[in-house]
Amino acid sequence: MVRYANRMENVKASDIRELLKITDRPEMISFAGGLPAPELFPVERLKDVTVRVLESCGSEALQYATTEGFGPLRMKIAGRMNKKYGTRLSARNVMIVCGSQQGLDFTGKIFLNEGDVILCESPTYLGALNAFKAYRPRILEVPTDDDGMLLDRLEEILDSVDRIKLIYTIPDFQNPSGRSWSAERRAGFMKLLAGRDILVVEDAPYSELRFEGDMLPPLKAFDTEGFVIYLGSLSKVFCPGMRIGWVAADERILEKYVLVKQGADLHSAGFTQRIISMYMDLYELDDDISKIRKVYKKRRDAMLDAISVEFPAGTKFTHPQGGLFTWIELDENINTRELLAECLERNVAFVPGEPFFPNGGGRNTMRLNYSNMPEEKIAEGIRLIGTAIGEMVSR
Ligand SMILES: Cc1ncc(COP(=O)(O)O)c(C=O)c1O
Repeated sequence: MVRYANRMENVKASDIRELLKITDRPEMISFAGGLPAPELFPVERLKDVTVRVLESCGSEALQYATTEGFGPLRMKIAGRMNKKYGTRLSARNVMIVCGSQQGLDFTGKIFLNEGDVILCESPTYLGALNAFKAYRPRILEVPTDDDGMLLDRLEEILDSVDRIKLIYTIPDFQNPSGRSWSAERRAGFMKLLAGRDILVVEDAPYSELRFEGDMLPPLKAFDTEGFVIYLGSLSKVFCPGMRIGWVAADERILEKYVLVKQGADLHSAGFTQRIISMYMDLYELDDDISKIRKVYKKRRDAMLDAISVEFPAGTKFTHPQGGLFTWIELDENINTRELLAECLERNVAFVPGEPFFPNGGGRNTMRLNYSNMPEEKIAEGIRLIGTAIGEMVSR
């Protein structure tokens, strides 16, 4: 018999990964994955930049490199964040990781002892829960509304629960709910956390995908004590296949991330880091991002319009001002896992909401992604789901 480590008892296959295997079929209208629109990937430009990297510094690009990441790229990322958000970061505060997902795993490895408590939004990103669970923490949910974590409830938890190690947050266009924290909630949250010796992980892969309203400062911008660990990513604003994310943190904390990265994979691919870095020299990343925003706004509109027409009256859904997802709450008698089975037979897919609640619940909820399908497919897919809901209700 194969004897696995005890921690593997907590590591389960993600519903979404399993689902994506089916939704790959071309006939499927999928609102399931968190996939960016592939037709917007800058393939031609990347082809050009890749050749330029090989010609100008091919040997260096293909050699082993430093664990922290390619210096000029770290500097550009720090500079970009400072310019956009008013943070005060230098290259020394930034380490390149293999997608922000690696940053989440390292966070668990560095900070969590078995039984430590993590607080998170309810619901929250399934991939983070799965990464943290390997380290056997207790995960407690903090109730949220449309403006973010409810601070009075958070304060009650902070004052009554022992061993809280960190708070995991996604303040911008949250996965799965699409909601964003208001400016007041951000400031209030940081005030509440000041001097408490609790770390905050700010996971921000969607921040730059705002297509409505004003940009809001990240929690990191309020962080004078150095307790916010910011996870950034180029996956949703550039392309996920490059696997470029970053951890931005206080230098002393970042040293620990460097140590675990050495053990995990020595460094992120130097070749891709140089390609991105040169891309940022030759092109304006913001131009690519503004194209993406325009397309996603139209797709969001198409989805919300279709939901208002096709889903039963009284269905609750979020109105995301950016990002990739909207979140639906159906009548409480509808189980969205059963609904999914019906929908897959009609070649349309979504993700049931339950796995996004670490302690269960949300059986009548679902996450819908709108970035990966053209508007006509969105309209068609929502019509199909609406019909399936109607049939379930009438049964
Ligand atoms: C909230 C959140 N964090 C992190 C990730 C991981 O992104 P990546 O590893 O591609 O940067 C995702 C991906 O969907 C996400 O939604």
